[in-house]
Amino acid sequence: MAEYDLNELQKIHENKDVLNYLEQHGILEIKKFNDVYDYEKELYELQVKLLKLQYEIIEKGKRVLIIFEGRDAAGKGGTIGRVTQYLNPKKVRVVALPKPTEEEAGQWYFQRYIKQLPNAGEIVIFDRSWYNRAVVEPVFGFCSKEQHELFMNQVPEFEKQLIDDGIILIKLFLNVSKEEQAERLKERKEDILKQWKIGVLDQQAQEKWDVYTGYIENLFKKTSTKKSPWLEITKDNKKKARLASFKLIINALVGSEQEKIDSFVTKHD
Ligand code: ADP
Ligand code: MLT
Repeated sequence: MAEYDLNELQKIHENKDVLNYLEQHGILEIKKFNDVYDYEKELYELQVKLLKLQYEIIEKGKRVLIIFEGRDAAGKGGTIGRVTQYLNPKKVRVVALPKPTEEEAGQWYFQRYIKQLPNAGEIVIFDRSWYNRAVVEPVFGFCSKEQHELFMNQVPEFEKQLIDDGIILIKLFLNVSKEEQAERLKERKEDILKQWKIGVLDQQAQEKWDVYTGYIENLFKKTSTKKSPWLEITKDNKKKARLASFKLIINALVGSEQEKIDSFVTKHD
């Protein structure tokens, strides 16, 4: 039986099927790698649960909007990839809007996002969202102080209207520590497979850490409501953060704490 380096294996094979294949063909003794195996197994089970819930969403014509926000390099992209992995792609849509065009900049701020809201039977995932105006935009001066304040005042009422109309709104915020973010951003620069992830603003995430923190705290304070709380995940372990995201989504969809909530999750309401 060949020996494999656990870290290398984790990087390459995050897919349970691949690990099973390696085991079945005697290439790898999977039980030796308990961390990887447990993660893959739990992830797969959660993915299956989510898929079952998607069938119900389609059947009943429910509309689901999941907002993913977070610090740079907190793991939004990877998490969204796992969430959509086994879902019916015709009924799930990931929306990552680029910076507003000149035309869009002249519109009501919510206008371009409204076009992307879920249709009956659809799950829409926002990879960043209207909350750009709560954090990134004021941090970099892409909006005026007045625009930011107007947004902060409008957003709870705006979301209330969506919820009252029947949209299931789930707001997840992926957080990381400053040290871990520095480490991940460094990794992105060094690893050719990760370089596409480098956003133009990422370079400044570290320098502007405290400014970000101020706006993020205000975000939780001002835009969390009983009906649409912010669910903050603070864990410097991408896999654990990912599993936690699944559990929070599942709980929100079934409307109860079916999945046990991890201690590193904060519900702001
Ligand atoms: P990401 O981290 O999502 O890969 P960036 O770090 O480059 O992307 O940008 C973060 C967010 O800020 C994105 O949603 C992007 O559209 C937005 N953004 C970037 N530049 C501007 C700008 N000039 N005005 C408004 N929003 C911007
Ligand atoms: C992440 O890892 O959080 C996202 O993929 C990209 C980013 O915000 O830097």
